[in-house]
Amino acid sequence: MTTRRLASLTLLALATLPGMAGAQAYPSKSITLVVPFAAGGPTDVVARTLGAAMQKTLGQTVVIENKLGAGGTLAAGYVAKAAPDGYTFLIHHNGMATAPGLYRKLAYNPLTDFEYVSQVVDVPMTFLARKDFPAATPPEMLAYVKAQGNKLTLAHAGLGAVSQLCGMLFQKTVGVEFTTVPYQGTAPAMNALLGGQVDLLCDQTTQTVQHIKAGNVKFYGVTTRERVKLLPDAPTLEESGLKGFEVKVWHGIYAPKGTPTVAIDRFGAALRTALKDPAVMQRMTELGADIVPESKQTPEGLRSWLKPEIDKWGALIRSAGQYAD
Ligand code: MLT
Repeated sequence: MTTRRLASLTLLALATLPGMAGAQAYPSKSITLVVPFAAGGPTDVVARTLGAAMQKTLGQTVVIENKLGAGGTLAAGYVAKAAPDGYTFLIHHNGMATAPGLYRKLAYNPLTDFEYVSQVVDVPMTFLARKDFPAATPPEMLAYVKAQGNKLTLAHAGLGAVSQLCGMLFQKTVGVEFTTVPYQGTAPAMNALLGGQVDLLCDQTTQTVQHIKAGNVKFYGVTTRERVKLLPDAPTLEESGLKGFEVKVWHGIYAPKGTPTVAIDRFGAALRTALKDPAVMQRMTELGADIVPESKQTPEGLRSWLKPEIDKWGALIRSAGQYAD
């Protein structure tokens, strides 16, 4: 046998070993998609909807693993250090871009410790209060929160969560300071709002639209520049006088640095197929989530997006003076 033939047989054997993302075998077992926040919340809902659809293309289960803590940075750090074998991926949102500004010590570098798979969906946020909050309209709400200040509680999902980011921008723009209450995701934060244990929450439509439509919460507006199709009567916060206010949540899928290209390509292809699945498209529409254009459904679409976002949020965070060690 020639040396070249021996080498290619060895490569073939390696490619089909369980646990290796080889061209022939991948995926040969279930794939874990890590979600940085609590089950049942906005990120989790997007991950589970996509994971279930992707299984059809991949021929393997996509297991959703909720790794909670530190505003999503624990999960990102975990995936950055996971084996780069094509069996661990991360779904994360703007938190990937805000964490470098928010945390003085971060256990990973979003720009160098990951492979990029794709952007996924963009989601508007909504500003809510508990059902019996004593303000019926956005102007009444603004007058009330200015008068009450830190007597009011604002729930969020930790430093690095978009609920925290939105709450921070709201306080800075309105010129108030609330007492903030962190949870490990906005699923438990929403439960606290529904139970009347906290006063205010800024959260994504992927979780809130059902509660807004059922009248379980007071709803004062959306955080995007434009009104939202799903909630056409709701003003933007900017329309209600919060000049320049805008938070839109984007999502990306990542893998540990060094993950084989075959795994990135196949996971990405399954994702792109899922994003065209009529059932997925309908579910995303019901949740208020906009599937990103095809140009963003690529590794480059995420990579080129991330750096300017880190710069943009870093500047805002520095001006708000929010840090954690
Ligand atoms: C969640 O999934 O719980 C939210 O996306 C957390 C957050 O507010 O960032």
